[in-house]
Amino acid sequence: MTRVVTLAHYYTAPEIQQMADKVGDSLELSLFARDADADIIVFAGVRFMAETAKILNPNATVILPDAGSTCSLVTQTDVSALKAWRESYPDHVHVSYINSSAEHKALSDWIVTSRNVDDIIAHLYAEGKKVIFSPDYNMGGYLNYQHGYDMPLWSAVCEVHDKFNQAALDEAFAACTTAKYLIAHPESPLPVLKLADYVGSTSGMLNWIKSYDKEPDGVIFVATEDGILYNMRLARPDLNIEQAPIYAGCQCNSCPYMKMNTINAVKNAQAGKGTVIDYLTPADMDAARLPIERMLEFSK
Ligand code: 13P
Ligand code: SF4
Repeated sequence: MTRVVTLAHYYTAPEIQQMADKVGDSLELSLFARDADADIIVFAGVRFMAETAKILNPNATVILPDAGSTCSLVTQTDVSALKAWRESYPDHVHVSYINSSAEHKALSDWIVTSRNVDDIIAHLYAEGKKVIFSPDYNMGGYLNYQHGYDMPLWSAVCEVHDKFNQAALDEAFAACTTAKYLIAHPESPLPVLKLADYVGSTSGMLNWIKSYDKEPDGVIFVATEDGILYNMRLARPDLNIEQAPIYAGCQCNSCPYMKMNTINAVKNAQAGKGTVIDYLTPADMDAARLPIERMLEFSK
């Protein structure tokens, strides 16, 4: 019998999460994919996540439900320009966010996720290394600001998180009559991150919500993709959780690529139909696996 394992990122719609064997952030899903005893892995997420699953579990058939599920951090990065940029810093370590193509990963020394980026870069600086960071300009800019690093940065952004906006938040805060808090994903712009009570990964924000013990009637604004609000409200139905505004009066902040994982597309993928990640050569996968494994070893 064909063993099918379905993975869903927290940013997919609730009905897609309910179809999955495992729901998680990108680090959790990478680990689950690596260890999955499966003939077929259906990855209800975006393409770079499905590629990472294939790199870590090359014997499985990995299927992306919709071929269009990309990520702006990938589409805004021209790999030949990235190669030239990387070569212009020959004495630097190249740290890349997992939101990158397999070719991009192959040009990297370390891969990080939003969960371990702080610790890995602190470790490299502690060893006296010089670091360049790609592709997320906001995430790298926040690390430079917070820790006084001097990392040269690549200039792509997440088109969803980059829309969060300080003026809109100021307005939403001013309208609040109770205590207010902001938690934010580090892909958001620096002026927004500077306002946050907590900056962290998808799972980090979920844990912050789970252990919330501040003002019971406080409003918690969440600056990240809207899918995770489902998990937050499920974990703490007693809390007042709101999506942070992207501009005054507008609170829609949904990743169009994650939402391409419709019920039909996932059902088809579970039946073996969809975009099979079969275009990476063994040499490409070996080159991309090295920096990913370095991260997984570090995060054990
Ligand atoms: P996580 O690493 O927190 O799962 O985030 C992935 C992502 O695409 C954020 O926009
Ligand atoms: Fe990419 Fe942003 Fe969508 Fe995450 S939310 S997959 S970073 S476009």
